[in-house]
Amino acid sequence: MRVIITGASGLIGTSLALRLLDEGHEVFGVDKSPNPWTERVPVRLEDLRQADEARVAAWGRGDVVVHLAARAKVHESVEHPANALDNYTITHHTLEYCRATGTPVIYGSSRETYGEQQTVPVPEDAVRIEEAASPYAAAKLADEALIRAYERCYSVPFIIFRFSNVYGRYDDLARNGRFVPLLCDRIPRGEPITIFGRDKTYDFTYIDDAIDGVVLGIQKLVSQTASVSGHAINLGYGEGTTLLEAALLVAQAAGVEPKITIGEKRTGEIGKYVADLTKARTLLGYAPKFPASRGIPLAYQWWREWHGPLGAPKADAAA
Ligand SMILES: NC(=O)c1ccc[n+]([C@@H]2O[C@H](COP(=O)([O-])OP(=O)(O)OC[C@H]3O[C@@H](n4cnc5c(N)ncnc54)[C@H](O)[C@@H]3O)[C@@H](O)[C@H]2O)c1
Repeated sequence: MRVIITGASGLIGTSLALRLLDEGHEVFGVDKSPNPWTERVPVRLEDLRQADEARVAAWGRGDVVVHLAARAKVHESVEHPANALDNYTITHHTLEYCRATGTPVIYGSSRETYGEQQTVPVPEDAVRIEEAASPYAAAKLADEALIRAYERCYSVPFIIFRFSNVYGRYDDLARNGRFVPLLCDRIPRGEPITIFGRDKTYDFTYIDDAIDGVVLGIQKLVSQTASVSGHAINLGYGEGTTLLEAALLVAQAAGVEPKITIGEKRTGEIGKYVADLTKARTLLGYAPKFPASRGIPLAYQWWREWHGPLGAPKADAAA
């Protein structure tokens, strides 16, 4: 199989590309930045905000496109809403390739499309545009609608995966500023952490579970062995972990007492989310294996291996 991955230098793209290469598939990566983690992932440097008539020839034919390229920081989109518009444009240009070549697409959407829900776990049909809490969420909703329109108008098959707080190897503070890397960086060095929202609870998804789900989706979409096309599917672990619990897991793995302050929840952030995985289990046979209590210590272990022992100069290769 030849798999085209946009965002191939990112957290999910890197692990997905390596997994597919290990399984003997061909990977064609596209990203605006070189891959900072490994030289094994082939990456064509390209800014997908730009329309490009030569794109079809440059990418060649693929069995499927896994579209992961995006500006993925939610809070940053609140400060710079134009970032969200960029995400919509990037998706439009990726879909144009799929339309021209008839290639199926798998799209990396987000739990942010659900906004704030009163009850958890949250099933896929709970999405409501009225709940959009940030420009990032609004762009994810718009992207999902555009993908559905391309299926109706141009017969482009698709799966939409709604990820939730994916964490693990190949993420870094400098690049994404996400919560688990922040904990892994600060807590062992005795630096204070502020948690914005005491009860904030998320469904933390270890990278290997997320990749298992995407690979199952690729197999089923490409082989057409099951009618997965046209579905939005949650990929999570299916359990809620508070941010405080996540911080304590890192502190335990690092063997230190954390310095934690609790602040107010920030504009555009969701207070509680747990994925309903019924659809992922039924349609894909998805069976996540890493609760936060298992995955977060692994994420910390990778962090230490990548950055070296505490006190050593930082081996931070992030772009
Ligand atoms: N990681 C998560 O917890 C999570 C949760 C929900 C949704 N998602 C979505 O999944 C997808 C992948 O997430 P990730 O965690 O790997 O993000 P990431 O930030 O690690 O990777 C995204 C990649 O897209 C690239 N990119 C950004 N703008 C580009 C452009 N104009 N042209 C080409 N490449 C561009 C970046 O350079 C980066 O390598 C994103 O769409 C994200 O919104 C991720």
